[in-house]
Amino acid sequence: MRAADWDRHADDFEDLVTDVLEDGSGRELDAYVAAVKPSQATSVLVDLGCGVGSFIRKYAGRFARAHGIDFAPRIVARAAALCQGLRGVSFEAMDAARAPEKWAGAADLTVSLNVITSPSAAKRKALWASVAGVAKPGGRALVVVPSIECYRMVERAEQSLGLFLQAPSKADGMAVRADAWQKHYEREELQALLCSLGFRVERLGKAIYPWSQEGLPANSGAQKPWDWICLAQKTR
Ligand SMILES: C[S@@+](CC[C@H](N)C(=O)[O-])C[C@H]1O[C@@H](n2cnc3c(N)ncnc32)[C@H](O)[C@@H]1O
Repeated sequence: MRAADWDRHADDFEDLVTDVLEDGSGRELDAYVAAVKPSQATSVLVDLGCGVGSFIRKYAGRFARAHGIDFAPRIVARAAALCQGLRGVSFEAMDAARAPEKWAGAADLTVSLNVITSPSAAKRKALWASVAGVAKPGGRALVVVPSIECYRMVERAEQSLGLFLQAPSKADGMAVRADAWQKHYEREELQALLCSLGFRVERLGKAIYPWSQEGLPANSGAQKPWDWICLAQKTR
């Protein structure tokens, strides 16, 4: 979606976007952030595609400074209002692809949660380059992206129930989520991508969410649906 499309959802953002901090994956995320061991005196957090600032609201206190970037100005305004009074926190309405113009090599932790999903390969490439450009050498990136393996599992679950709720996924990982075609990633693909950007993958796991989020009964499969969650360290 374009910035203007996101902005139309500024007021009902929480209805449209599943908060990865609030569903089952919140605990998983906690463990990944703890592994970063940030310093409250010196560490810098940059959240690319920060939405209404949920991650910053929860974790900014563990860092000296936290900067949220989102290209939708009304969403940024809501983030700033919701984080009012938090020490060392700022927000900016800009394309996250341009973040290195301001924050090159600055971040101890660069976060991007369910943002790099555009069907445009060029747009995704620019955003991944920005993750790498903002991370300081030795700094970490924490990313959450949709899993194509999960999407296919949900497709199979629907078929076994005689339902066809989802549009069939495509071979290149494109699949419909929240009524829009979005890039979904294979585990190995995500790993290789981060390595190609100069990161060493430290943890790559599942941020699990309930079947109800896929519109299916709670017992639709032994394995619950998930997004990929990955912590990687910038080595070069
Ligand atoms: C699915 S929401 C996730 C928000 C937040 N990361 C979270 O987990 O709550 C995607 C967000 O990324 C923003 N976004 C998408 N593409 C962007 C870009 N190129 N630059 C900045 N923000 C972007 C959207 O405006 C939206 O707020």
